[in-house]
Amino acid sequence: MKGLKKCSRSAQDMDPRLVILSRGPGLYSTKQLVKEAEKEGWAVRVVDPMKLTVLIDESGGRIYYRGWPLECEAIIPRIGHSITRRGVSIVRQFERMGVIVINQSDGIANSRDKLVACQLMAEAGVPVPITANVGAWEDTVRAVNQVGGTPCVIKSNEGTHGSGVFLAHTEQQARQLVYQMLERDMRPLVQEYIQESHGQDVRALVVGGKVVAAMRRKAHGSEFRSNFHLGGSVEPVEISDRYAEIACTAANKLGLDLAGVDMLESRNGPLVLEVNSSPGLEGIESVVGEGFVAAEVARLLNRRLEESLSDSGAANNTEMTEAGSEAFGIYD
Ligand SMILES: Nc1ncnc2c1ncn2[C@@H]1O[C@H](COP(=O)(O)OP(=O)(O)O)[C@@H](O)[C@H]1O
Ligand SMILES: [Mg+2]
Repeated sequence: MKGLKKCSRSAQDMDPRLVILSRGPGLYSTKQLVKEAEKEGWAVRVVDPMKLTVLIDESGGRIYYRGWPLECEAIIPRIGHSITRRGVSIVRQFERMGVIVINQSDGIANSRDKLVACQLMAEAGVPVPITANVGAWEDTVRAVNQVGGTPCVIKSNEGTHGSGVFLAHTEQQARQLVYQMLERDMRPLVQEYIQESHGQDVRALVVGGKVVAAMRRKAHGSEFRSNFHLGGSVEPVEISDRYAEIACTAANKLGLDLAGVDMLESRNGPLVLEVNSSPGLEGIESVVGEGFVAAEVARLLNRRLEESLSDSGAANNTEMTEAGSEAFGIYD
């Protein structure tokens, strides 16, 4: 075990326990997080958040997995977009139980709502593209004019992997897209199109308040969306202090310890497009080296554990003992 105190529980010393909440134990990111945390001395289990039972009571509540109380010192939630609501409530429960959580529930919820994220970032002085949330399709053209006219970007407030993002070349197209999204309860955003950044953006990985890695993402062919999931490619990039500072401020304002901050390179400098609370590690680690970002996350867990041990002293530690230690061994 590397540089990490064992958690003293009852008579014996045990490795600290980490639960990764993920529905994809075979995914690259999950596997790297498991591997690097184990190297740092954590006992790691991957648990499907949808299979957990949450009990709420006045004394902080409990979480059960297959009939056993799930006890651990830390969790890393990797909550997919389709289960955001339930995932966030489960993460909140772990917070109530005093577990170290990377990322916290508020941060995840803030980052999943593009409008809320934009509002919070603008409040913190983080530059963002001019963005309008349109409530009635008749207002589309007014919104398009506010963001600088066509072409403009129309996107769903809660989309991911580029799936709800469109480039509207005419007012008519913009109106149609907004209309269709409103019909499907999708909360459309009309956004200034940053032409000079067409088909590319910069992603900075922020871990514990520091940029630990960055890459430039380039779209496939004539595509304007640079998402890795749409076949985009990645390459190394050196980012300036200004980009790094903006990325850290954005992650911090949203309340995220681990964040993938996407920035467009506009002619006036960085504009933060969105902040991802479960950033995929495959693309970035193909640039900076396998396990590199996951190892930073594992070291952040170590720091948090050391802090919580010195903050709460032995009292908290002993409390965690009784119910959890035998139960942990049965997870798959
Ligand atoms: N306003 C914009 N100007 C230029 N390109 C954009 C703009 N908005 C989105 N894009 C491109 O589309 C991609 C996906 O947009 P994004 O808002 O991040 O949606 P998602 O959450 O689906 O990834 C971005 O990575 C970027 O390449
Ligand atoms: Mg994105």
